[in-house]
Amino acid sequence: MPRTRSLLDTPALQALLVQAGALLPCAALAAALDTFGHGLTLLQAALLQGALAASIGWKVGLARWWLPILLLFPLALLAGLALHLPPWLAAAAFLVLLGWYWSTYRTQVPYYPSNPAVWRAVLAELPQGRALRLIDIGSGLGGFTLHMAMARPESAVEGIELAPVPWLVSRLRAALSGSRARFLRGDYERLNFAEYDLVFAYLSPAAMPALWHKAQREMRRGSLLVSYEFEIPVVNGVKAIRTTEGGPLLYIRAI
Ligand SMILES: C[S@@+](CC[C@H](N)C(=O)[O-])C[C@H]1O[C@@H](n2cnc3c(N)ncnc32)[C@H](O)[C@@H]1O
Repeated sequence: MPRTRSLLDTPALQALLVQAGALLPCAALAAALDTFGHGLTLLQAALLQGALAASIGWKVGLARWWLPILLLFPLALLAGLALHLPPWLAAAAFLVLLGWYWSTYRTQVPYYPSNPAVWRAVLAELPQGRALRLIDIGSGLGGFTLHMAMARPESAVEGIELAPVPWLVSRLRAALSGSRARFLRGDYERLNFAEYDLVFAYLSPAAMPALWHKAQREMRRGSLLVSYEFEIPVVNGVKAIRTTEGGPLLYIRAI
């Protein structure tokens, strides 16, 4: 039962259901118009379907950015048909996007990179003069991890990434640059944070409460939890640094 509820809470699935749910009223309206001699063209039908789906999406409270997607999806399908795109192209595009976004529908954490100013600010927070174990949870294309491995050669630096395509790219980057950084493929939920001196996260607001609970349960005294852009949900003891003018904050919590 809880599994079903959490699946239906997934925004991508809700958007799919909304689009499917708009089909029936759209078809009924088109049939009624046809009866009165006002048959719709395919373009009009696609516009009607998109407008109905976007209205339902708005009514059920989907995030705003889903609304243009719902509106334009039937038109995109129509354009694909009109352009006579080969079916394998759609399948290939689907596979690449699947490999890139993977579990984003569940984690609600898509890929977007942090930047060198953030990496330098994190470096400045690290204890000096001893080897550390550092990890980027959700390492994307590996920029943070590769930089840390270069700047702290005495330390063990890892990244863990759920999505196969970014993970593969980060592995290739490490191999081609001769970096000692290690990239794991998997879910950071399965790691034991007690093994790390620094846990770096650039995730999303949706991920922060569970991350903080895990950090509290597992991280050792003296270790650091660092989150770029997304606040660590605790009242006391969080240091916030602005790494670029007008840019997001970097949140640092010593455990
Ligand atoms: C915003 S990107 C950050 C990339 C990288 N850390 C950086 O600073 O450039 C977040 C990444 O976390 C990955 N991710 C989300 N949830 C994850 C999880 N539970 N375990 C591992 N990776 C995850 C996503 O696939 C995405 O590539």
